Amino acid sequence: MNPRNAVTVRVPAKVNVQLAVGPPRPDGFHDLANVFLAVALHDHVTATPAAPGAGVSLTCEGPGAEQVPLDRTNLAARAAELLAAHHGRPAPDVRLHIAKDIPVAGGMAGGSADAAGALLACDALWGTATPPAALHELAARLGSDVPFSLLGGAALGTGRGERLTPLPVTGTFHWVFALADGGLSTPAVYRECDRLREAAGEAGQAVAEPRPDPAVLDALRAGDAAALAARLPAANDLQPAALSLRPALADTLAAGRAAGALAGLVSGSGPTCAFRAPGAATARVVAERLAASGTCRAARTT
Ligand code: C5P
Repeated sequence: MNPRNAVTVRVPAKVNVQLAVGPPRPDGFHDLANVFLAVALHDHVTATPAAPGAGVSLTCEGPGAEQVPLDRTNLAARAAELLAAHHGRPAPDVRLHIAKDIPVAGGMAGGSADAAGALLACDALWGTATPPAALHELAARLGSDVPFSLLGGAALGTGRGERLTPLPVTGTFHWVFALADGGLSTPAVYRECDRLREAAGEAGQAVAEPRPDPAVLDALRAGDAAALAARLPAANDLQPAALSLRPALADTLAAGRAAGALAGLVSGSGPTCAFRAPGAATARVVAERLAASGTCRAARTT
């Protein structure tokens, strides 16, 4: 592959149509059965060469851009450094620009998407032609959701979510996303999940081993929107924790159902709420009513 002058990668957001969470592991992570579905909300990550010695620099535009860190705590910057180190280049010189459309800190893997985009953009910019298996391994080191962001489509994530099995998916699923003001911290939501289970006497051995729900996998395979909607309300083990930390999300979920959604759930660790709509026209109506309900900052359809 020839090195290029600038590379832009489009990366999707995800929604978890199932998120089964096991007990905490000794390393602090939780084993999951995580059914990821990429949705048509995208960030664009552009990599351009920088002068020798300039290092990695980052700029960001779009909704919520002011909340995105522009130093090396940003997963996209770490992705560029990790890829360079993998190829024996200790100090890469590259400018990364993120055009954001995925909600920031919203439980839709926006930061993971940007890291996956940065890996692919730098790999093409530098002509390093990293094999997919090595890219996957680098992605997993960056974060549990980054491998899925590389893969897209639909996939079952096991382990801490990084071990992926692609899933067949057909049909069209219409979604409405209710965006919240302010994010929720993913580690805090997992901790709250553990705490709630302990308080209910359901911690440790009492927690079921996370397994994929066959009805969710069948619904994706068959493109059966109604069957998928039927499973959503109980699909996310992190939802009670997100609701405990942000009780107002219960009002958002109720407003979505009242607005005509088939079903709703908290997306991942939240605070974005995801609603399934029967079709594109209903999705637009649900989004308008949600936006007018005062229970969210904005609503998006995909
Ligand atoms: O892997 P990632 O950096 O995205 O994870 C962020 C945090 O979310 C972890 O530090 C951990 O607290 C929590 N987490 C977890 N179990 C997982 C994935 C994430 O406990 N499977």
